[in-house]
Amino acid sequence: MYSRVLGTGSYLPANVRTNADLERMVDTSDEWITKRTGIKERRVAGPGDTVAFMATEASRRALESAGTDASEIDLILVGTSTSAYAFPSTATLVQHALGCRNVPAMDISAACSGFVYVMDIANQYIRSGACRKVLVVGADIITAACDQTDRTTIVLFGDGAGAAVMGASEEQGLILSHLHSDGSYSQLLTLPYVSTQDPAQENRFLYMKGNEVFKVAVNTLSRLVTDTFELAGMDKGELDWLVPHQANLRIIKATADRLGLGMDRVIVTLDRQGNTSAASVALALDEGVRSGRIQRGQLILLEAFGGGFTWGSVLMRY
Ligand code: ACO
Repeated sequence: MYSRVLGTGSYLPANVRTNADLERMVDTSDEWITKRTGIKERRVAGPGDTVAFMATEASRRALESAGTDASEIDLILVGTSTSAYAFPSTATLVQHALGCRNVPAMDISAACSGFVYVMDIANQYIRSGACRKVLVVGADIITAACDQTDRTTIVLFGDGAGAAVMGASEEQGLILSHLHSDGSYSQLLTLPYVSTQDPAQENRFLYMKGNEVFKVAVNTLSRLVTDTFELAGMDKGELDWLVPHQANLRIIKATADRLGLGMDRVIVTLDRQGNTSAASVALALDEGVRSGRIQRGQLILLEAFGGGFTWGSVLMRY
């Protein structure tokens, strides 16, 4: 028995923030942002676009495309670092909003790796026979977690949610998923909770030592994608699509180069969406599927790297 993606869905806020808008907010330029990141615009959550709302809307679309009723879902997993509450979790709010049964629902915090983390967990539940259908979601509102006057972070991020329904299948779906972490890098990329224990807390915003994160991300992802094919005992030449985390076009190109893959075989959304953290891989997967580029039976590699550090990949037949 395998686990397989049965359907995907997305939600993006309507508000668009362009590089020209950012030029009016901070000391930056369209040229700098485009050259260093590849981002041209991103979506910003408006009133009502909570993480739970976006996660629910993306899930509705994933259920519809999977031809699955909410009552069939056995487990709900939401990758997020920006849930409005520690509890109730976003996952329980999604459970209620969709009218799912009283199934387990939980949030998983793995920064930008959130979606590959929840896919891996869903895979374990399905392959063990504990669940038949699992709703996996990545959703974040990172723009609000940035200091709006900090040009080193505000230009990079966007908001959104992506989802997929994973189900038990006799046809091969997920082939290999593997996850990693290394907390020795924890201070290079941080997003504090508003502390209940330290009223004098000063730092409330996302912090990233971008150029140091960049170096580790490029090296780690290059190693990750090579290891994935080695562990799967497959040739990287068989890959149809790379669906990478959307942090920086230079990182994506370096990973594609390592796979010997042309950019015409890579799903890129960051030019229009920026880095949407846990939502990014899910949004890219949904775009690849809905645009007709990703076809049933094709070999797809999803990968992500983020705060923690955390990283991971999913090799699957769509
Ligand atoms: N506009 C103009 N200039 C800027 C801006 C800006 N928005 N931001 C920084 N600069 C300046 C810096 O001050 C610096 O100036 P200096 O040379 O005078 O000191 C110069 O540009 C170069 O800055 P770097 O930080 O060295 O630029 P770099 O080429 O590394 O690009 C970036 C920065 C885009 C952040 C890149 O390092 C990156 O993508 N890092 C990795 C991001 C990532 O993968 N994160 C993990 C996932 S995120 C998560 O998990 C939530």
